[in-house]
Amino acid sequence: MPATGGGRGRNRRQYPDRQRAHDAATGRPPSGPAANRTGAIRGNEVGSPKRVASADALPPYLSAHYWWAYIHPNAVRVFERQWLVNLILWGNYARLRDAMLAELGEPLRGATLQVACVYGDLTRRLCERVAAGDSIDVVDVLPIQLGNLRKKLPRSAPVRLLAMDSSDLRLSTASYDQAFAFFLLHEQPAHYRDRTLAELFRVVKPGGKIVIVDYARPRWWNPLRYLWAPVLAALEPFALDLWRREIADWLPRGAASRKELFFGGLYQKVVIQR
Ligand SMILES: C[S@@+](CC[C@H](N)C(=O)[O-])C[C@H]1O[C@@H](n2cnc3c(N)ncnc32)[C@H](O)[C@@H]1O
Repeated sequence: MPATGGGRGRNRRQYPDRQRAHDAATGRPPSGPAANRTGAIRGNEVGSPKRVASADALPPYLSAHYWWAYIHPNAVRVFERQWLVNLILWGNYARLRDAMLAELGEPLRGATLQVACVYGDLTRRLCERVAAGDSIDVVDVLPIQLGNLRKKLPRSAPVRLLAMDSSDLRLSTASYDQAFAFFLLHEQPAHYRDRTLAELFRVVKPGGKIVIVDYARPRWWNPLRYLWAPVLAALEPFALDLWRREIADWLPRGAASRKELFFGGLYQKVVIQR
């Protein structure tokens, strides 16, 4: 979602210091031994050797186009500010977050999967709604982002943080009642986006719900249709795919979905019935 910083020229330049990138991406202390390569974050989180997220295994689009937003050691320091993520969303953070929370329901029942961490307080608020005995799993390919999320949550939060790629979830088929992604799909190139949606479909139980909140093509009268397109094109090279195509086009055949637009169509919530 961050459509700020970076820049096309900088995007082409790979993150300058590979060792620091690796340390940041894996959550390893800069000069520490190559211990804890499990991808698990300390605490009550789980991991296995298969869940390793080393810098070498990162999706190429992340290190090429989003290192400044998520991987760089300063990224969390810069972007983890509620007012900044709200600014990037043209003042719509609370509205979009609340639309997601409302769609998932209160109390939040059953097993819920969040695919990719987000800056801001969405996950903390979600944790406050979890019904007794239920829980949330949060998947992200970057341990640095999972570590940041851990710091934002109370120790008792009913959540597991899992280092995994959304396009290759090492989670059981039909094991979640609902799953969601908040501003993830626009960051992914088509083949990752397809795989992510297919994986969400696989891990959610038949009858369950998948909720996507992300960019959409603004209506013709919305000035951002003309002002925001070049910004997205420069900073987020795959985002305009969501202006050109419906998320429903990428779903498995016959999947039922409904869409709601926000802020003159710049944002959408798509609810898919599994
Ligand atoms: C959800 S997206 C955008 C959210 C938005 N910038 C915000 O913070 O509100 C950002 C997160 O997606 C994660 N991410 C990107 N590609 C991923 C993938 N293939 N698998 C898992 N996580 C991924 C990044 O590591 C980052 O933490």
